[in-house]
Amino acid sequence: MADGSMDECYQVVLQLAKDAGKLVRDRIWKKKDIEFKSCEVDLVTETDKEVEKLLISGLSSHFPSHKFIGEEATAAGEKCVLTDDPTWIIDPVDGTMNFVHGFPNVCISIGLWKNKAAEIGIIYNPVLEQLFTARKGQGSYMNGTRIHASKETELSKALLLVEMGTSRDPEKLKVVLENVTELVPIVHGTRSLGSAAMNMAMVALGAADAYYEFGIHAWDIAAGDLIVREAGGVCLDPAGGPLDVMSRRMLCAGTQSLANELVPKLKQYYPERD
Ligand code: IPD
Ligand code: CA
Repeated sequence: MADGSMDECYQVVLQLAKDAGKLVRDRIWKKKDIEFKSCEVDLVTETDKEVEKLLISGLSSHFPSHKFIGEEATAAGEKCVLTDDPTWIIDPVDGTMNFVHGFPNVCISIGLWKNKAAEIGIIYNPVLEQLFTARKGQGSYMNGTRIHASKETELSKALLLVEMGTSRDPEKLKVVLENVTELVPIVHGTRSLGSAAMNMAMVALGAADAYYEFGIHAWDIAAGDLIVREAGGVCLDPAGGPLDVMSRRMLCAGTQSLANELVPKLKQYYPERD
């Protein structure tokens, strides 16, 4: 079937993610070829490119009518447009800086979107063997066990995930650091995993209570959006209102109340859209 049923899509992508995971697992502690993208801390390795090719060629051979938005294809100049067509949004290695250093918070993140809404989300950390999966209306799972976001409603008791991001633009860094300065004295604790998708998976797992970032891309959050919401959490724009996956802005939390408390405390930043 050219379009594929959601069941078929899910089975195919799961197998491909596992195949891709083997490459990441086998190479994380080996020497890599590293190139720079937008700046000297925005990295790409041969594994990022190879994993993206493996996923896109595998998916397009099963589903020739489907569209793709891939981190490395976009970096190589392909257009990044989300239509209503079934579209696979792929981050082949999220946490590339971690991968380069051998820090095991790395994952493959794949979202299938249709009519501009997520249908399937896969976040797979093959080093720590954590496979997060979600399908629309069917809940979220880690390694096959149902997971739930936390019920925390108060920022003063929350474990908050923050990221510095991969841009060294002084205006953006200023906002990032001002937010951290404002929030660190208020929350229970802050953590940074170095992978947007893994951060979202931890919110879905209830291991962290909230996470926000300005400057992420669609491929960082396309799977996490569904995985967090199917676990009972919320994903929204950091100024409140619905998440726009192409806006490069995202806030997620275990509860709407916690998100509501966080929103007015955030200094806003509006990057150029995907
Ligand atoms: C990055 C990671 C990082 C986040 C950046 C992302 P990459 O993705 O998710 O944690 O702060 O915004 O771009 O470059 O490792 O695929
Ligand atoms: Ca990424």
